[in-house]
Amino acid sequence: MQIETGVSLRPYNTFALPSLARVMVRVASEADVRAVVDHPELGRAPKFILGGGSNIVLTRDISAVVLKVEVAGRRLQETRDDAFIVEAGAGENWHDFVAWTLAQGWPGLENLALIPGTVGAAPVQNIGAYGVELQERFESLDTVDLVTGRTVTLTREMCRFGYRDSVFKNGLAGKSLITRVRFRLPRPWRAVQGYLELERRQAQSGIQNPDAGQIFDWVCDIRRAKLPDPAQVGNAGSFFKNPFVSEAQCRDIIGRDPTVVHYPMPDGSIKLAAGWLIDACGWKGKSVGRAGVYEKQALVLVNRGGASGAEVVTLARAIQESVYGRFGIRLEPEPVVV
Ligand code: EPU
Repeated sequence: MQIETGVSLRPYNTFALPSLARVMVRVASEADVRAVVDHPELGRAPKFILGGGSNIVLTRDISAVVLKVEVAGRRLQETRDDAFIVEAGAGENWHDFVAWTLAQGWPGLENLALIPGTVGAAPVQNIGAYGVELQERFESLDTVDLVTGRTVTLTREMCRFGYRDSVFKNGLAGKSLITRVRFRLPRPWRAVQGYLELERRQAQSGIQNPDAGQIFDWVCDIRRAKLPDPAQVGNAGSFFKNPFVSEAQCRDIIGRDPTVVHYPMPDGSIKLAAGWLIDACGWKGKSVGRAGVYEKQALVLVNRGGASGAEVVTLARAIQESVYGRFGIRLEPEPVVV
């Protein structure tokens, strides 16, 4: 366990927002987490868990003890008839882990390539892209309870996954720290296609039966073409969740805006594309202060250089108000605003 004080968190959040941690502890193992829990001062203090910092908007300094998760390691835990079970430390970089599983011959995560962040943050958010959600490839995970120091293993049901949601954003927020995650990669492997942009790529290439490596490459190309690289432009991916509306609400919107992008869901509700709604309100490429809306994808807010968290929040509120004013829909942020 390594204790640091007065740490700038700017390098540790992909939005590159300024914030100071009073105390930051790097935790590389379950034993490190227990050492924090048993520590006479740190043990009693509130905790703030930091993964890859790709899903937070920092608007202030952090007085809680920042636990920077750096648990490493990845291994094949088990080969079953119907799946490979692969385990990774919560501090591993997500994209590197996906690339490694493919290189080892254990496909299944290729649609989730190039999502910024760490392995431990993936279940918190129930990350998803191009037709696959993490919960569909999830086996179990280990957490350390931040009060008792006990290790607890959680199954898929216990994680209560939802759209970009889990128990770690609700009941267990700040209470338990994910140390290791196990993935269930089904055998035999089957490509997940059907997502419009992937279909387009496939049609262009003329490839009938793409393998997992091919899908991985297409997903990386699509993401690189329309999402900013956080190493160059600060951002936290999609800033708003795609909203769900009733059929009647959707009909009402179509009546006024026939081109609204909408997807009927199995439960009868309709998912709308938040990016389209924001774009329709004229926000693409606009700025408020040093925070802006990305030119190629209106769902992504960016730091144009030196922005504060407050500026990002001001821009987000202005967008929410204009989308509400025109469509009567309240957009919900996807990242956690701190
Ligand atoms: N659109 C516009 N204008 C825009 C942006 C989008 O008209 O400025 C339209 C697009 O043309 C498309 C529709 O809106 O018809 C949906 O856009 P897109 O396919 O790009 O996907 P998304 O709904 O914006 C979601 C996830 C992404 C994920 C992609 C691909 C959410 C909030 N976002 O985006 O996840 O990569 O699908 O599966 O669910 C993330 O969560 O950080 C993220 C990037």
